[in-house]
Amino acid sequence: TVQKTLEGKKVLITAGPTREAIDPIRYLTNHSSGKMGYAIAEAASARGADVVLVSGPVNLPAPPGVTVIDVESTADMFGAVKGHMDADLGIFTAAVSDFTPRDVQSSKMKKSEDDDELSIELKKTQDILQYAGDHKGDMFVVGFAAETDNVRKYAAAKLEKKNADCIVMNDVSDKEIGMNSDDNEVIMLFSDGFEQPYPKMDKQALGVEIIGTIVKRWQG
Ligand code: PMT
Repeated sequence: TVQKTLEGKKVLITAGPTREAIDPIRYLTNHSSGKMGYAIAEAASARGADVVLVSGPVNLPAPPGVTVIDVESTADMFGAVKGHMDADLGIFTAAVSDFTPRDVQSSKMKKSEDDDELSIELKKTQDILQYAGDHKGDMFVVGFAAETDNVRKYAAAKLEKKNADCIVMNDVSDKEIGMNSDDNEVIMLFSDGFEQPYPKMDKQALGVEIIGTIVKRWQG
């Protein structure tokens, strides 16, 4: 049995991809399956936390006892997160789109006979983790860093820039781990310099480890 070390704590978690509409039938997205975030939500709930899971479109059942808020776009995800900034712990696992089409076409985009190329203008989305870091109050903020090269350097930069208390870094260039795989391998970097590496294991087991380490570092 798991110790209920998160009893009375509210935990906010984001998971999965976002969908950015191009027109009524098309969108931009990525390969995130939501598995990592859902595993963390399940582990937090097992420790007795009151868990709110803000989820992009995924094919996973709601973990037992977890409140799932389904969202599609980055803007929707941001709106849901803003409503739960009173959480004690925030874990931002979602693979949020960094850009969204500048204008959403109101009807289906048509192929033109004259043009062999088409450009879609994109604009930056809201950085949800940055917002959480900047407005965290008493919230312990944990972000993820999905990198394909210079993993450690970029992850350490994100930890500082996003005002997070911890960044969980993973190398998404390796098909065996990261997006859409059943396994992951991470290093947790904390703002006080503490580091916790975890070897490759299934995301369920890793979710338990990640929550365990966060609880230890956060509650001392
Ligand atoms: O869902 P799975 O298939 O299980 O895969 C898990 C995962 C690879 C998606 C996960 O482990 C992971 O790395 N999630 C973060 C993916 C990501 O978008 O990383 P990033 O380095 O681009 O972003 C850094 C952090 O900022 C992340 O915490 C992200 O949630 C957050 N972010 C990014 C952009 C944005 N507009 N808002 C954000 O909150």
